[in-house]
Amino acid sequence: MNTLIYPGSFDPFTNGHVDIASRAALLCDRLLIVILTNRAKKQHFDADTRVAMARLAMEGVDNVEVEKFDGLLVDYYRRVDATAVVRGLRSQSDFRFEAEIAAANKLLLPSYETCLLPCRPDLAFTSSSLVREVASYGGDISGMVPKALVSIIQKHLNNNKPAALQPD
Ligand code: COA
Repeated sequence: MNTLIYPGSFDPFTNGHVDIASRAALLCDRLLIVILTNRAKKQHFDADTRVAMARLAMEGVDNVEVEKFDGLLVDYYRRVDATAVVRGLRSQSDFRFEAEIAAANKLLLPSYETCLLPCRPDLAFTSSSLVREVASYGGDISGMVPKALVSIIQKHLNNNKPAALQPD
Protein backbone atom coordinates (compact mmCIF):
# COMPACT_ATOMS: atom_id res chain seq x y z
CA MET A 1 0.00 0.00 0.00
CA ASN A 2 1.31 3.44 -0.97
CA THR A 3 1.05 5.89 1.90
CA LEU A 4 1.81 9.55 1.33
CA ILE A 5 2.09 12.03 4.18
CA TYR A 6 1.11 15.68 3.79
CA PRO A 7 2.61 17.42 6.85
CA GLY A 8 2.25 21.02 7.90
CA SER A 9 1.17 23.39 10.59
CA PHE A 10 -2.04 24.21 8.65
CA ASP A 11 -2.81 27.20 10.83
CA PRO A 12 -5.42 27.27 9.32
CA PHE A 13 -6.03 24.92 6.35
CA THR A 14 -6.52 26.95 3.13
CA ASN A 15 -7.73 26.34 -0.42
CA GLY A 16 -4.04 25.99 -1.32
CA HIS A 17 -3.74 23.06 1.07
CA VAL A 18 -6.97 21.53 -0.30
CA ASP A 19 -5.51 21.74 -3.82
CA ILE A 20 -2.29 19.91 -2.86
CA ALA A 21 -4.04 17.31 -0.64
CA SER A 22 -6.72 16.52 -3.27
CA ARG A 23 -4.13 16.01 -6.00
CA ALA A 24 -1.84 13.98 -3.71
CA ALA A 25 -4.77 11.73 -2.76
CA LEU A 26 -5.05 10.70 -6.42
CA LEU A 27 -1.43 9.52 -6.40
CA CYS A 28 -1.61 7.07 -3.50
CA ASP A 29 -3.72 4.48 -1.71
CA ARG A 30 -3.77 6.48 1.52
CA LEU A 31 -2.99 10.13 2.24
CA LEU A 32 -2.26 11.04 5.84
CA ILE A 33 -2.53 14.74 6.57
CA VAL A 34 -0.54 15.29 9.74
CA ILE A 35 -0.74 18.42 11.83
CA LEU A 36 2.69 19.12 13.31
CA THR A 37 4.22 21.96 15.23
CA ASN A 38 6.77 24.31 13.77
CA ARG A 39 8.55 25.47 16.94
CA ALA A 40 9.90 28.52 15.13
CA LYS A 41 6.34 29.86 14.77
CA LYS A 42 3.52 30.86 17.09
CA GLN A 43 0.48 28.60 16.50
CA HIS A 44 -2.83 30.49 16.37
CA PHE A 45 -5.31 27.58 16.40
CA ASP A 46 -4.81 24.67 18.80
CA ALA A 47 -3.92 21.29 17.28
CA ASP A 48 -7.41 19.77 17.77
CA THR A 49 -9.07 22.70 16.01
CA ARG A 50 -6.57 22.43 13.14
CA VAL A 51 -7.35 18.70 12.85
CA ALA A 52 -11.11 19.41 12.84
CA MET A 53 -10.71 22.10 10.16
CA ALA A 54 -8.58 19.85 7.92
CA ARG A 55 -11.17 17.05 8.27
CA LEU A 56 -13.99 19.41 7.29
CA ALA A 57 -11.96 20.73 4.36
CA MET A 58 -11.27 17.23 3.01
CA GLU A 59 -14.70 15.72 3.72
CA GLY A 60 -15.77 13.37 0.93
CA VAL A 61 -12.26 12.35 -0.16
CA ASP A 62 -12.27 8.69 0.88
CA ASN A 63 -8.57 7.86 1.14
CA VAL A 64 -7.64 10.86 3.31
CA GLU A 65 -7.10 10.71 7.07
CA VAL A 66 -6.12 13.59 9.34
CA GLU A 67 -4.28 13.37 12.64
CA LYS A 68 -1.93 15.38 14.83
CA PHE A 69 1.55 14.37 15.93
CA ASP A 70 3.82 15.94 18.51
CA GLY A 71 7.36 15.10 17.48
CA LEU A 72 9.74 14.84 14.57
CA LEU A 73 8.31 14.27 11.12
CA VAL A 74 10.78 11.41 10.54
CA ASP A 75 9.43 9.57 13.61
CA TYR A 76 5.89 9.86 12.27
CA TYR A 77 7.13 8.76 8.82
CA ARG A 78 8.67 5.62 10.34
CA ARG A 79 5.59 4.93 12.46
CA VAL A 80 3.16 4.90 9.52
CA ASP A 81 5.62 3.21 7.15
CA ALA A 82 5.25 6.04 4.62
CA THR A 83 6.25 5.89 0.97
CA ALA A 84 6.99 9.64 0.75
CA VAL A 85 6.10 13.09 2.02
CA VAL A 86 4.20 15.51 -0.23
CA ARG A 87 4.73 19.25 -0.05
CA GLY A 88 3.32 22.06 -2.17
CA LEU A 89 5.51 24.54 -4.04
CA ARG A 90 4.25 28.06 -4.58
CA SER A 91 7.45 29.92 -5.40
CA GLN A 92 11.23 29.84 -5.54
CA SER A 93 11.41 30.69 -1.85
CA ASP A 94 9.21 27.67 -1.05
CA PHE A 95 11.66 25.56 -3.05
CA ARG A 96 14.60 26.71 -0.95
CA PHE A 97 12.76 25.95 2.30
CA GLU A 98 11.57 22.56 0.99
CA ALA A 99 15.06 21.61 -0.20
CA GLU A 100 16.40 22.38 3.29
CA ILE A 101 13.81 20.34 5.18
CA ALA A 102 14.05 17.47 2.68
CA ALA A 103 17.83 17.35 3.15
CA ALA A 104 17.59 17.57 6.95
CA ASN A 105 14.98 14.80 7.10
CA LYS A 106 16.99 12.61 4.71
CA LEU A 107 19.99 12.95 7.02
CA LEU A 108 17.83 11.80 9.93
CA LEU A 109 16.20 8.96 7.97
CA PRO A 110 17.91 7.75 4.76
CA SER A 111 14.72 6.10 3.42
CA TYR A 112 12.85 9.47 3.62
CA GLU A 113 11.54 10.70 0.24
CA THR A 114 9.85 13.96 -0.78
CA CYS A 115 7.43 14.69 -3.66
CA LEU A 116 7.01 18.37 -4.50
CA LEU A 117 3.76 19.35 -6.22
CA PRO A 118 3.54 22.77 -7.90
CA CYS A 119 0.50 24.62 -6.66
CA ARG A 120 -2.32 25.93 -8.85
CA PRO A 121 -1.16 29.34 -10.23
CA ASP A 122 -4.23 31.15 -8.88
CA LEU A 123 -3.35 29.94 -5.35
CA ALA A 124 0.32 30.93 -5.47
CA PHE A 125 -0.14 33.79 -3.02
CA THR A 126 -2.47 32.09 -0.54
CA SER A 127 -1.01 31.42 2.89
CA SER A 128 -2.30 30.80 6.38
CA SER A 129 -0.93 34.12 7.64
CA LEU A 130 -2.70 36.00 4.82
CA VAL A 131 -5.98 34.31 5.80
CA ARG A 132 -5.45 35.25 9.47
CA GLU A 133 -4.54 38.83 8.59
CA VAL A 134 -7.62 39.37 6.38
CA ALA A 135 -9.97 37.63 8.85
CA SER A 136 -8.65 39.63 11.80
CA TYR A 137 -9.82 42.83 10.05
CA GLY A 138 -13.20 41.25 9.31
CA GLY A 139 -12.32 40.91 5.60
CA ASP A 140 -13.77 38.35 3.20
CA ILE A 141 -11.78 35.08 3.33
CA SER A 142 -14.31 33.03 1.35
CA GLY A 143 -12.02 32.88 -1.71
CA MET A 144 -9.10 31.60 0.36
CA VAL A 145 -10.51 28.81 2.54
CA PRO A 146 -13.20 26.13 2.14
CA LYS A 147 -16.74 27.40 2.81
CA ALA A 148 -17.11 25.20 5.91
CA LEU A 149 -14.14 26.92 7.61
CA VAL A 150 -15.06 30.57 7.06
CA SER A 151 -17.15 31.10 10.18
CA ILE A 152 -14.88 28.96 12.42
CA ILE A 153 -11.87 31.08 11.47
CA GLN A 154 -13.71 34.39 11.71
CA LYS A 155 -15.19 33.50 15.11
CA HIS A 156 -11.83 32.41 16.52
CA LEU A 157 -9.99 35.51 15.31
CA ASN A 158 -12.74 37.85 16.47
CA ASN A 159 -12.80 36.27 19.93
CA ASN A 160 -9.07 36.83 20.21
CA LYS A 161 -9.27 40.46 19.14
CA PRO A 162 -8.21 42.99 21.74
CA ALA A 163 -11.13 45.11 22.94
CA ALA A 164 -11.57 48.16 20.74
CA LEU A 165 -9.96 51.30 22.10
CA GLN A 166 -12.50 53.79 23.42
CA PRO A 167 -12.05 57.42 22.40
CA ASP A 168 -10.91 59.67 25.32
N1 COA B 1 -1.10 26.65 -0.17
C1 COA B 1 -1.24 27.61 0.76
N2 COA B 1 -0.31 27.87 1.69
C2 COA B 1 0.78 27.11 1.66
C3 COA B 1 0.98 26.09 0.74
C4 COA B 1 -0.02 25.87 -0.21
N3 COA B 1 0.08 24.95 -1.16
N4 COA B 1 2.17 25.53 0.98
C5 COA B 1 2.70 26.17 2.03
N5 COA B 1 1.85 27.13 2.43
C6 COA B 1 2.07 28.12 3.49
C7 COA B 1 1.40 27.79 4.79
O1 COA B 1 0.09 28.29 4.81
C8 COA B 1 2.30 28.51 5.77
O2 COA B 1 1.94 29.86 5.75
P1 COA B 1 2.25 30.85 6.94
O3 COA B 1 3.73 30.88 7.14
O4 COA B 1 1.69 32.11 6.45
O5 COA B 1 1.54 30.31 8.16
C9 COA B 1 3.68 28.37 5.13
O6 COA B 1 3.45 28.15 3.77
C10 COA B 1 4.48 27.21 5.63
O7 COA B 1 3.60 26.28 6.23
P2 COA B 1 3.80 24.73 6.26
O8 COA B 1 3.97 24.22 4.92
O9 COA B 1 2.69 24.16 7.05
O10 COA B 1 5.17 24.61 6.96
P3 COA B 1 5.50 24.97 8.41
O11 COA B 1 6.74 25.77 8.35
O12 COA B 1 4.41 25.58 9.15
O13 COA B 1 5.75 23.54 9.01
C11 COA B 1 6.63 21.35 9.21
C12 COA B 1 6.68 22.68 8.47
C13 COA B 1 5.43 21.23 10.12
C14 COA B 1 6.53 20.28 8.15
C15 COA B 1 7.95 21.25 9.99
O14 COA B 1 8.03 22.34 10.88
C16 COA B 1 8.03 19.94 10.76
O15 COA B 1 8.30 18.92 10.16
N6 COA B 1 7.82 19.99 12.09
C17 COA B 1 7.92 18.81 12.96
C18 COA B 1 9.24 18.81 13.71
C19 COA B 1 10.37 18.38 12.79
O16 COA B 1 10.44 17.25 12.32
N7 COA B 1 11.30 19.30 12.57
C20 COA B 1 12.44 19.06 11.72
C21 COA B 1 12.12 19.45 10.30
S1 COA B 1 13.59 19.39 9.31
